Amino acid sequence: MSIQTLAIDIGGSGVKVLVLDEAGVPLTERARLDTPQPSTPQAILEVIHTLTATQGTFDRVSVGFPGVVRRGVVYTAANLDGTWLGFNLATALSASFNKPVRVINDADMQGLGAIASNGVELVITLGTGFGSGLFLDGRLVPNLELGHHAFRKSETYEEQLGRAALDAVGKKRWNRRLGRAIVSLENLFNYDMLYIGGGNTDRIEIELPPNVKIVPNISGLLGGIALWRS
Ligand code: BGC
Repeated sequence: MSIQTLAIDIGGSGVKVLVLDEAGVPLTERARLDTPQPSTPQAILEVIHTLTATQGTFDRVSVGFPGVVRRGVVYTAANLDGTWLGFNLATALSASFNKPVRVINDADMQGLGAIASNGVELVITLGTGFGSGLFLDGRLVPNLELGHHAFRKSETYEEQLGRAALDAVGKKRWNRRLGRAIVSLENLFNYDMLYIGGGNTDRIEIELPPNVKIVPNISGLLGGIALWRS
């Protein structure tokens, strides 16, 4: 009997779930609900349980969380309620599901679902926040937090390119900023490939260099299988 993994992607604006087989192939239709407000651990756990009820059976759980996560514990959550800090998400979910649970940063999970495991690969996600993940030959450097790093005009990447910035300055200026961010990241990381994911990739209008690829938003969930590789 093949092992089935429930993949959960917690985001600042939506929570998504899907069940994957051992090869990482989706077995269910992706289900999504808006992130509740206030986005407390309790409220998000309730949404996760509502969504999971649509997904049938599974043996283990992978979670992508929009903040720094170490050993299942949340250290930062810039776009969620402040009560997340110090919350042990892995323990809470494994107690309620009675299944093994692994939790990782959302952009790291997205990267695991997108990379070719070849050389230096950088992933950025454009959604409510600005996520980032760095890989060398498929090995993750966990919790790279480029989003809160200085970018330009005394603002961070997230302040310049997150959802609030897109809404405030519009698509044209946001695209110009994205072009500048790509140059800046290429100078910093000299990556072999940059992957761009997240819900706002459909707003991209600039021409991308050959070593930059847009990845489908579903890779945020597909990466859930890689968390269980040794
Ligand atoms: C968080 C990152 C996260 C990104 C995308 C940022 O605000 O600090 O950890 O990956 O948003 O959700």
